[in-house]
Amino acid sequence: MAVGLGSVWSLLLTALVIHLAAPLFGKSESTAVGDAVSQQSIQCEKYDHMCDPSRQHCPTVENCTGLSELPQQCYASWMNNSDGIKFVFKGCWVGDSCVGQKECVLKSNRASVKFCCCEGMFCNRHVNYSVSHVTTTTPSTPTVIRKQGGAQLIRTVMYSIVPLFGFAFIIVVVFWMWRRHQRSYNSHEPLPTVDPAIPTTPSETALYPLQLIELRARGRFGSVWKAQLWENYVAVKIFPLQDKHSWSVEQEIYNLAHMKHDNILNFIAVEKRGDNLNVELWLITEFHELGSLADYLKGNTVTWTEMCKMAESMALGLAYLHDEIPAGKGREAKPAVAHRDFKSKNVLIKSDLSACIADFGLALKFEPGKSPGETHGLVGTRRYMAPEILEGAICFNRDAFLRIDMYACGLVLWEIMTRCSALKAEEYQLPFEEEIGLHPTLEQMQDLVVVRKVRPAIKDHWLLHPGLSLLVSTVEECWDQDAEARLSAGCVQARIAQLARSVNISTSTSNLIQPSQIVVVPSGELPPKDAPSL
Ligand code: ADE
Repeated sequence: MAVGLGSVWSLLLTALVIHLAAPLFGKSESTAVGDAVSQQSIQCEKYDHMCDPSRQHCPTVENCTGLSELPQQCYASWMNNSDGIKFVFKGCWVGDSCVGQKECVLKSNRASVKFCCCEGMFCNRHVNYSVSHVTTTTPSTPTVIRKQGGAQLIRTVMYSIVPLFGFAFIIVVVFWMWRRHQRSYNSHEPLPTVDPAIPTTPSETALYPLQLIELRARGRFGSVWKAQLWENYVAVKIFPLQDKHSWSVEQEIYNLAHMKHDNILNFIAVEKRGDNLNVELWLITEFHELGSLADYLKGNTVTWTEMCKMAESMALGLAYLHDEIPAGKGREAKPAVAHRDFKSKNVLIKSDLSACIADFGLALKFEPGKSPGETHGLVGTRRYMAPEILEGAICFNRDAFLRIDMYACGLVLWEIMTRCSALKAEEYQLPFEEEIGLHPTLEQMQDLVVVRKVRPAIKDHWLLHPGLSLLVSTVEECWDQDAEARLSAGCVQARIAQLARSVNISTSTSNLIQPSQIVVVPSGELPPKDAPSL
């Protein structure tokens, strides 16, 4: 009886404390009871340094409801300048990196753009500059540098002390109840589990506040994740430590002068994550929702116009990569770059269905007068290897490497053609999948491509269409057995551009090209086969 009365009394006290503390947290009675409920209705202060209130509406509040299933939090980012700090962004933050953190406390002091996140209504209104959980050798700036009025100070003290006492009281009461009832207390809540498949993103070494959202691809060199950085999606390619060389090569290629191009994947940054024992190497690039060309073709057919756009933009990207830009007045030189692993998985499709080239972990740059470094021949993906690589030839020079890319480019163009709805589109298959399946050995590839000189099938009905037959001849000139007879990427791009212009298809009729819909220019007007850059 005494125990029962005690329990009721302590429950009443607990309810009273929660009731008193709730308004101090800015929560209603019901939301103070469970965080899960409060997370659904959180609001954060909103700020965007790019928004000009004299020209547009700049919201100051963001409603986080419905952004994600993940816990909802607020964040702020800012830069230090001579006058203090300048905010960059504020808003809702989706994730669980700041669960339980009521104040927006600086996460890492290493990046020029500072970042904090926190949980609770408008908790990003003020930021706390002191570094949280970070051991740093640089002296940290004092805690909370904002100015506070007297009333606000009292409120802040109340906010911290009253809930503290309340919680201490609750803990004592709960402990007391637990001690009294421990003999009959049998239920055990399972601990929350950590999904080992999801990489951790320790903030100690992080420069960028990245949130990994979804695994998008697994490749030879680690995995590619869709991630969130500030208010944008980005792609994060995670290399294990043993693939450090590919990570270094890839960033070196992206950092060459003049590597910004519409048809080359846009590079953002690199960083090292984790501690000494468990280092991961991250490479951050622009994210393209449609994924790789291989993925896209697996799930979609393409119209004649889409095919021309994809093929032309891909060839343009490859031509740009292959081209050398000489140094000029105040302009740095761009060396010619060979990709060395060109394939439909390494071409990404942008939202307008143009293509961009990615994955430069095996690339080689050719700076005039300098050795290109390691030029070991047998690299790349077997299925896409040119006959001269499969034959084991060595001592390739710059042009030989560019021609090897062009052989693979021919195979990728064939993949796009097989999915063109202007023809009878076939099921998507990789090049040579029909001939040797999904896991060809080196010996099988050598027999097929070098000895028997087989190439992917060109169906008879493709040649019935004058426009497509021109594309077929371009593809065949890319994968010629004689490397020196192959087209350059610049020439392929010019041919496809002309083909797209000259083959006039009425979109009001069916997708299938009728011979009457095709206007073909005389072949003499096609750009010459001579390679501009080879
Ligand atoms: N797969 C590999 N890289 C990618 C990227 N940058 N965007 C989307 N999917 C990808």
